[in-house]
Amino acid sequence: MSANDNSYLRLGVNIDHVATIRNARGGDHPDPVRAARLAAEAGADGITAHLREDRRHIRDRDIERLKAEIGLPLNLEMAATVEMLEIALRHKPHASCLVPERREEVTTEGGLDAAGQHNHLKSYIAQLNEAGIRVSLFINADRAQLDAAVSLGAPVVELHTGAYCEAAFAGDEAQMETEFQRIAEAARYGAEAGLEVHAGHGLTFETVGPVAAIPDLKELNIGHFLIGEAIFGGLHSTIKRMRAAMDEARSGRAVVGR
Ligand code: PXP
Repeated sequence: MSANDNSYLRLGVNIDHVATIRNARGGDHPDPVRAARLAAEAGADGITAHLREDRRHIRDRDIERLKAEIGLPLNLEMAATVEMLEIALRHKPHASCLVPERREEVTTEGGLDAAGQHNHLKSYIAQLNEAGIRVSLFINADRAQLDAAVSLGAPVVELHTGAYCEAAFAGDEAQMETEFQRIAEAARYGAEAGLEVHAGHGLTFETVGPVAAIPDLKELNIGHFLIGEAIFGGLHSTIKRMRAAMDEARSGRAVVGR
């Protein structure tokens, strides 16, 4: 399976939490750009970074350096705000993923309400499209949200896999199956509507297999688990192992964790 293969599933490595650790002490170690370089060597297809309003992990300078120093496509996760739009238009990442953002949340807790915020999002998506930045909307696996993405002119959606992963973590197999079916159905519905469908949030070695096997998905974005697991296994080999788990699930050779 190669990156040119139509059935290939891309891996975007989210390096936010390398910056979280750096910021815990100040200074510049560990360097998220170094992590991005290593991710590229280990087989990542893209680098994902979320520039939050409060700059709790990734900072403006990191985005600048990721663009300048890393050859892989950069997926900038951002809230739909004037400040972030200006930053995206200045740095021209390969992609911008619009996410909901609340200051008090620990992580991105749910999908963007693309249907409810239609009028607010419209001009952001139009300006990003106009600048040649591929827009994606981070949404829950829900037909109304997929319909809204189409009508907003977003070419890509990323389905939130958090509820599926939480059910797995809780050992609730029935809920896991329900959430998994929701993701698979939404991926099919979105692909049929002409959207490129991605997925991510909370994925681990245990939960990635079934999601990676969904044929309508083109990309997974994975961060927290990879950075955490790297403490034990090293970043390079952890990413390689995730890449292998995705390839195996995709080719039907193995179903990890199910
Ligand atoms: N995709 C999006 C849109 C996200 O906001 C995040 C978390 O920043 C991820 C994927 C990655 O989630 P995790 O860090 O749980 O793997």
